[in-house]
Amino acid sequence: MSVTLETMVQLAKKRGFVFPSSEIYGGFSAIYDYGSLGVELASNIKNFWWKTMVQMREDIVGLDSSIFMHPRVWEASGHVSGFSDPLAECKKCHTRSRVDHLLEDIGVSADEKMSEQEIQNLFNDHIAQINCTKCGSSDFSQAHKFNLLVKANLGNFTNDWTKEPAYLRGETCQGIYINFKNVLDSTHIKIPFGIAQIGKAFRNEITARQFIFRTREFEQMEMQYFTRPEDEMVLYEVLREARFQYYIDLGIDPKNLQWHKHDRLVFYAKQAYDIEYNFPFGFKELEGIHARGDYDLSQHMKFSGQDLTYFDEEKKEHYTPHIIESSVGVGRTLLAVLCDAYYEEEVRGETRVVLKLKPMLAPFKIAVLPLSKKLELTSVAREIASLLRPYWMIDYDETQSIGKRYRRQDEIGTPYCVTIDFESLNDKCITIRDRDTMQQDRIHKDELVSYFKEKLSMCH
Ligand code: GAP
Repeated sequence: MSVTLETMVQLAKKRGFVFPSSEIYGGFSAIYDYGSLGVELASNIKNFWWKTMVQMREDIVGLDSSIFMHPRVWEASGHVSGFSDPLAECKKCHTRSRVDHLLEDIGVSADEKMSEQEIQNLFNDHIAQINCTKCGSSDFSQAHKFNLLVKANLGNFTNDWTKEPAYLRGETCQGIYINFKNVLDSTHIKIPFGIAQIGKAFRNEITARQFIFRTREFEQMEMQYFTRPEDEMVLYEVLREARFQYYIDLGIDPKNLQWHKHDRLVFYAKQAYDIEYNFPFGFKELEGIHARGDYDLSQHMKFSGQDLTYFDEEKKEHYTPHIIESSVGVGRTLLAVLCDAYYEEEVRGETRVVLKLKPMLAPFKIAVLPLSKKLELTSVAREIASLLRPYWMIDYDETQSIGKRYRRQDEIGTPYCVTIDFESLNDKCITIRDRDTMQQDRIHKDELVSYFKEKLSMCH
């Protein structure tokens, strides 16, 4: 079902998935913190990505490169000169906005590859219809490009460090490119092969909107696949297919997914597609899958002076590998997963909110709920929780009525609730409630672990 962003933001806060950062200081724009459930959900998403990308593949290996890299990396990559978004400032209230977003709000699309002049012309053509999102004025400054790299004074002890800054990485894949030779020399891997990495990236995003969709600090899951030049496009199509299937395996309804083909490509790119998800604010990019030619390694060879070519032992020839890329944000995936799993159902005249997350993604797999707070029940319930904890994430809850506790577990997507009642004390049996069907099973305590091992076979 479709859900509003407002509902998602409220649920995320109320249940401890996502909090705005630094709230006690009035917040810090476009930065978010993940609460006890958010951190579990994000970790389950990352684990599934890693399993799909690395564990299940003999041709892809992992990497964890540093957030900081030599500043020349960002010159070679083109980020210092060209990693920017078009910005215009409202002359009345001084709110800064992304020009492409202002245009988008009135139904005009501006391609990210447009030059500053092209954007400015488009902006001028439509200025009469455009209003500041804060004060409504249509008196704007000239549009200009604003560089998104975040600067730091790391290792620079002068007062004027901004002239020669280090950068917090704007994307994780540069760490992959600069380690290409290290990975090659330290493993027995041969082309075609991939390097996968999950890590933080930082961008000075101009506008903070749409919750965790676009943030200034975020985590990326990126895989760069190195190919022979002539194999690039065939392997690109294989990657595209695998990536679409990944979202279906994640539990996302294929009706909420679509391809977006980039019409304007940067000069070196062979092909670029995004997988878009139907967010509450429309279909938007979830993941980018790009065929990048030999641009990345060629640039790093040029700027570092090092040889990053590959020697094909069978053909006895050197060549610069071409790269195909898969790149997606953890937060953006988490938002898509939450929106897709959100249901409101009518049960006995009441609205039941339920997150129908795949069990492998659910923060808690099982909730253990004693029917009352009486010690004779809670002691057994705690025993059951301890029995299950070595295998899965377990929530133990003895507060409130059983109805309210079921509703809370439904709202956070817990697939199974285990209830211990007074009869359990005699027959050692426990009631198990299924989140989606609300059907109940009664199982002997000794069979509990094997019962859940079957039900939760792909979950840890
Ligand atoms: N290495 C290629 C790259 O970084 P990108 O399209 O700029 O390409 C890839 O980013 C993915 O990273 C996006 O599809 C999105 O999922 C995520 N992402 C990018 N910027 C983000 C931001 N400001 N906040 C959250 N996620 C972001």
